[in-house]
Parts: sequence; C-alpha cells; structure tokens
Amino acid sequence: MAELIVSANLLTHLYKKRFTVEEATKGTERDFFFYAVPCASSHGWVLFSTVIGEMKHLFLYRPFTNEVIRFPGLEMGFSNNASFYLNPTSSDCMADESFYCSLSNGKLGAFNIKQQEWKLLWNLQSELSPLVNNSYMFAFNGDLIWVVAIGATYHVLYGGKNFITWYGNRPQLVVTEPEQIKEILNNKDGSYPKTKLEGYSKKLLGDGLVTTEGEKWFKLRKLANHAFNGESLKGMIPSMIASAEMMLERWRQHDGKEIEVSQELKILTSEVISRTAFGSSYLEGQNIFDMLVKMAVLISRNGYKIRIPLIGTLAKTSDDVESEKLEQGIRDSFIKMIKKREEKVEMGKLDSYGNDFFGSLLQAYHDTDKTKKITIDDMIDECKTFYVGGHETTTSLLTWTILLLAIHADWQEKLRKEVLELFGKQNPKPDSIGRLKTMSMVVNETLRLYPPVVQITRRINREVRWGKLTLPVNMEAYIPTIAVHHNPDIWGEDAHLFKPQRFSQGVAKATNNNTAAFLPFGLGPRSCVGLNFAITEAKIALSMILQRYKFNLSPNYVHSPTQLLTICPQHGLQIMLHSM
Ligand code: HEM
Repeated sequence: MAELIVSANLLTHLYKKRFTVEEATKGTERDFFFYAVPCASSHGWVLFSTVIGEMKHLFLYRPFTNEVIRFPGLEMGFSNNASFYLNPTSSDCMADESFYCSLSNGKLGAFNIKQQEWKLLWNLQSELSPLVNNSYMFAFNGDLIWVVAIGATYHVLYGGKNFITWYGNRPQLVVTEPEQIKEILNNKDGSYPKTKLEGYSKKLLGDGLVTTEGEKWFKLRKLANHAFNGESLKGMIPSMIASAEMMLERWRQHDGKEIEVSQELKILTSEVISRTAFGSSYLEGQNIFDMLVKMAVLISRNGYKIRIPLIGTLAKTSDDVESEKLEQGIRDSFIKMIKKREEKVEMGKLDSYGNDFFGSLLQAYHDTDKTKKITIDDMIDECKTFYVGGHETTTSLLTWTILLLAIHADWQEKLRKEVLELFGKQNPKPDSIGRLKTMSMVVNETLRLYPPVVQITRRINREVRWGKLTLPVNMEAYIPTIAVHHNPDIWGEDAHLFKPQRFSQGVAKATNNNTAAFLPFGLGPRSCVGLNFAITEAKIALSMILQRYKFNLSPNYVHSPTQLLTICPQHGLQIMLHSM
C-alpha cells in the first residue's frame, strides 16, 4: 500500500501525520513524490504527484475533509511535463482556490478546485519559448500575484517586483529589481554569502570555488583566474580548435542527414575542458563525466522532495545509496588522476606538475607555504567544479545558439559571411576571434533568451532593511536571471523575440547601462571565472561549424527546454546538416 507521509514544515497541522492515499492512487506503487506549497491560505489543499511509467499523476488532497481530486491536467494539452502550483491567494482574476499549471509550449492555466474546471489564462505559441518545464510561478498574498513562468512566459499579472515564495520548506525572497540585484551581487562585506549546498548538490560540487567563501575562496579564485584568462587562455586555443575538428570529423557521416547536435556539443565541451584544464581527454575522463551526469539527474529528480528530518537520515532511499556510490566513484577517479601526474613527476617524465589548471592545483596541494596550500579535498572539489562548470554551461549556450540559427536562417547567413570574411576556410586565428562582432550579438541574445544558469541565489547573513521590508537572517535571496532577461520593462514588449540587433552597440547600450539587466555570467566578485574561456570556445566552435555546414531544424525536433543543472533540450536538438 502506498503510504504518503506529509512533511510538515509545509502544513504545520499535518506535521508528522501519516495517512494512506490508497483510494487516490489506485494501485500505484512507485515512488511518491509530493510537493506542496506551504501556505495556510492554500485552503488546506495538498498537491502531490506520483510517477507511473512515464506519466505523472497528480492529486489534490484535503486532509481535513478527506477529499481527493485526481487532477485532470492532461486534457487541456498540459503535458506530462507541466509544472503545477497551488496558489495561496484568491483573486478575482483567477477563481478562488485556483491551482496553476504551466507548460513548455507556453500555456498557462488555472484549475478551479471548487468547480473542477480549467481556465486557459495564457497561450503563447507564436515563438518557440524557452519556458522550462519546471517553470516557476510565484505568488504573494493579497492582490499581488506574480507569475514567473520561466522564460518567455515571464509575466506580471499584478504589480510587485520582489516577493516571497517557498522552495519546499525554505522561504525565498525573489528579487527582480535591478538596484537590489546589484546590492546583493556587488556586496563585499559578507552580507549576502553563497547559499550552502546540501544533499546531492553538495556531493556533486563539494565546497569548491562556486560555493566556498572567505580566504579559501580568495585562494581558489586566484588560481582559477590565472588558469582561465589572458595568456593561459590564448595557449588553450589550439586545443579548442583540435577538439572542434574531432567533432566535425564525426559529422562527415551525417552530411545531408539529421544529427542530434546537443550530445555532440556535450562531447566537444567535455573534450575541451579535459584537454585544456586537465591534460586529459574526453574518453579518458568519460567515466567521471558519466558519473557527474548521473548525479545531476539525481539532483533534478529530487529537487522538490521534502525530507523529513530524522526519518530522512535513518532510512536511505535508493537514490541516496546511488549518490554515495557515485560520490565515492568520482573521488576515486580523481585520486587516480592525481597519482598518475604525481608519478610522472617523481619518475622524471615531467619536470613540473604542469602549466594547466590541474597542474596549478597540484602545485598548490604540494605547496609548503600555508597561505597557498590547498588540501586533497579542496583539490577534488575543485576538479569536480570545473568538470561540471566547464562543460555543462557552454554546451547549453552552444546548443541554443544552434537552435536559434537553425530557425533564423538570415542570422545564420550573416554569421557565416562574417566568419568567411575574417578567416576564409582557415581555422580561427586567436587574435581575430575578438573581431567576430555579429557573432557576439547572436551569442549575447542567446544568453539573454536561454541563460544556461537560470537563477542565482544568496543567503541573507544579517538583518537587512529594504524600504518597508525587514529581511530576516538566513532567508534566501533568489535572483531569477531568466525572468530578468525577459522583463518587458527592461527589454521592451518584444523581450521574448530573438533580435540580436539589440546588442549591435554592445551590452552597455542594450541594457541602458543597467549592469543588473543582463546576468548570464552573474555580477560582482562572484561572477563567472570561465566567461572568456566559454565565449572563446563557443566562438571557435560556431565559426568552424559555419565554415563547413548550413543547417536547419529537423521536423523531428520537439521543443521542450528542461533544467538539468542548466537549461537543455529535453529530447535533444535535431538539425539537418548540409555541407557547403
Ligand atoms: C556559457 C557558459 C557559462 C555560463 C552561462 C556561466 C554562468 C555562471 C554564473 C551565472 C556564475 C555566477 C554564479 C553566482 O553568482 O552564484 C558563474 C560562476 C562560476 N563559473 Fe561559470 N558559466 C559559464 C561557463 C563557465 C566555465 C567554462 C567555467 C570553467 C572553466 C566556469 C566556472 C565557473 C566558476 C568556478 C564560478 C564560480 C566563481 C566564483 O564564485 O568565484 N563557468 N558562472
């Protein structure tokens, strides 16, 4: 019998209460995953879902009255991937006790629980929208209702710029006002540190550069800055070109045919980070990449699961067991890599630990100066950070750029012309990469529409006053980059359209000097250390593809952006390749 334990921090009155949902679930036995918005004003309804085979089944349950509604979501064209939210407010625009739902094809609906009827609120089908499947809708009490359905459907139903929402049992302040975004991200006195990673995310990234603070951050940032910028970056260009050549060699057999390009780009970016930072290759590090991807899947699968304190630690789920195995496997693989390089130095095959990032980490690990020294755990966490950060994000950028160029043939042609004028059929020249102006516009517009990192979070470390608001210590600040990038107040009514010409005079002009309006790489001291690396890699790969192929979207492509660490196409990106 399936048993549902409702956690508590959600609805206090249900705390520790166990109840069976046999009648609601009719023989469904698999994994219950339930997700409820913790608002008293949600009229006591709890939303929960279970996955049977490929289908998600949803139920609304009201413990006081024991009512159960099997959710008729799919009838309205809401796919299995739709996101569902119980709205804690009532308003005249949406029926009382509404239950909202959004979907990757740009539909937004409200389900009236009382009348058990759907109302289509919004149907945005004109453009492929970057709405992510697990799109967010946020609500604030009273007459402020915001809907931030990720991406093109970002929309304000009623005013209000910053508002509170809940992520499981954690309150989050959603910040979309540029001034406050700047205050948070530019802060240097420790008022808004990084949020601490927990659970599977911690196993994935450890306490590396992305999450750590203080002196350790300073030490690691210095190492990374040196490894990924300036002369070091220039030295990596031949490896980037060689990796792209390997990919294009594989593409030969797809000439005139369809190719699933996102997997190809993933191999490319994995190859690039392996070669440039770790002196290795994709194949050599493939098992590490595979294990990291498996861990990312666990994170996304468990993102909204609510753990009941004690019980959660005593009773391990199968995902817990798998994540522990993966963590150990990843650690063992990195230790092997470290030993291999150390042995080469000990046997005199290498006269130093090497000039790549891995080499400088090893150097720091062996350093006798305490101010520079890092531990073996620091080193492993840093390797994980760069294996993940170094390729997932750039894959996302390249994939969406290819999608947009496949749809917008005019921009594809403009880019090709620019590339051919600068490089002819030769490989990109390091000194000319910066002159790819049209490509910069297209890359920026892609990063605006589909920012690989859709949100940035910080913890509020001291009581802060913002106007009338007093923000308590330990609340999370959540900056929805993707929502800021689609805000019509900043970008105009055509915010959801692909218009690279916005960036024709640079980012400053496109944003009216509003540095917090365009945040693909973050802002302030914790902004992306791999920005130049990623952009250089993306421009090289795009140039080399455009030199050889024309491409258009395959009819087999299904638009369904989804979030797996970064935004990626759930069913891949299929394009038709035509050699030049
Ligand atoms: C298109 C590609 C990329 C995008 C969109 C991107 C995005 C971001 C963003 C938004 C942040 C800031 C997060 C925050 O403030 O909480 C960040 C930080 C970071 N990124 Fe990237 N990134 C990309 C590529 C890369 C690459 C290629 C690497 C490594 C080679 C990398 C390594 C890092 C690291 C280590 C940090 C943390 C920096 C710190 O806290 O000091 N990123 N990235």
